[in-house]
Amino acid sequence: MTPLPLLIDTDTGSDDAVALLLAGASGLGDIRAVTTVAGNVPLPTATRNALLSLEVAGATHVPVHPGCERPMTRPLISAQNVHGEDGMGDVGLPDPVRSSDPGHAVEVLLDLSRRHPGELTLVTLAPLTNIAAALLRDRDLLSRFRHVYCMAGAPDARGNVSATAEFNVWADPEAARIVLEAATPDKVTWIGWDVSRKDAVMTPADQERLEAIGTPRAEFVHRINRTVAEWAREVTGLAGYDLPDPIAMAVALRPDLVTESEQVHVDVALGDEVRGQLIVDRRLSAPPPNLTLARRVSESGFKELLFATCAGALQPA
Ligand code: RIB
Ligand code: CA
Repeated sequence: MTPLPLLIDTDTGSDDAVALLLAGASGLGDIRAVTTVAGNVPLPTATRNALLSLEVAGATHVPVHPGCERPMTRPLISAQNVHGEDGMGDVGLPDPVRSSDPGHAVEVLLDLSRRHPGELTLVTLAPLTNIAAALLRDRDLLSRFRHVYCMAGAPDARGNVSATAEFNVWADPEAARIVLEAATPDKVTWIGWDVSRKDAVMTPADQERLEAIGTPRAEFVHRINRTVAEWAREVTGLAGYDLPDPIAMAVALRPDLVTESEQVHVDVALGDEVRGQLIVDRRLSAPPPNLTLARRVSESGFKELLFATCAGALQPA
């Protein structure tokens, strides 16, 4: 199988790092560029972590372009309480060996999609600020990608950052609204936090398996998710820590892993009490669908991909 040409937009925290590893080291992805944005951590930290993760993935040829340093209209409220002050579990990782590349993320999104129409798959793992800013410049942006996969939202209204909202949409709901207004279900798939909670939880047995693999990549994944594991135990009550961005990346790399999906009209709430909550309209009289929502993904398929990538057992290219 030919590796999938990818453009990845990330606010690199600890689970984005795992997603970058899947994209760069599974043999299934061909990362053409990474763009960074403020979200889980401030922009310079996200950029540093993206560079570091690409090193671990052995993908140091991939350019990294910083983008927007704050949401469209609101101040940045990061998730360093979840991912650690450095976004990578505060385990004292070294600095990356290289620096970011010239060219603002928004320019890169516009430029690469125009130069390679229909070729690139865009995967977003972050608040949608860069994508919305690019859409304000060019409303046809999404149509020029082969497909767009976004880790975004909580379509069952069980939130992680608030009672009903998922972080990426909550952090910049105006950007999410702009993306939803431009989206079509044949082009855009969202993988929400519901999928992560159900199908991407690293149980104690999974964590032991990861430790037992013992490669530098497995050790990296295990160590950087230390603070997320604490947060998940205290806040979510899940049987381990969940991996939202990696399961979204797995869906992009292996769409056959999706076991349930729906096409539906989705909007986002902007008011204070319900900030970032998805409004999923399933009425017969609803507006036409604008999104495909992945609702369940093969847990075993996802975890085998993750373990094989960490073990260095690459998928045949
Ligand atoms: O909502 C889950 C959060 O963790 C998001 O920021 C997602 O991108 C991941 O990093
Ligand atoms: Ca993220």
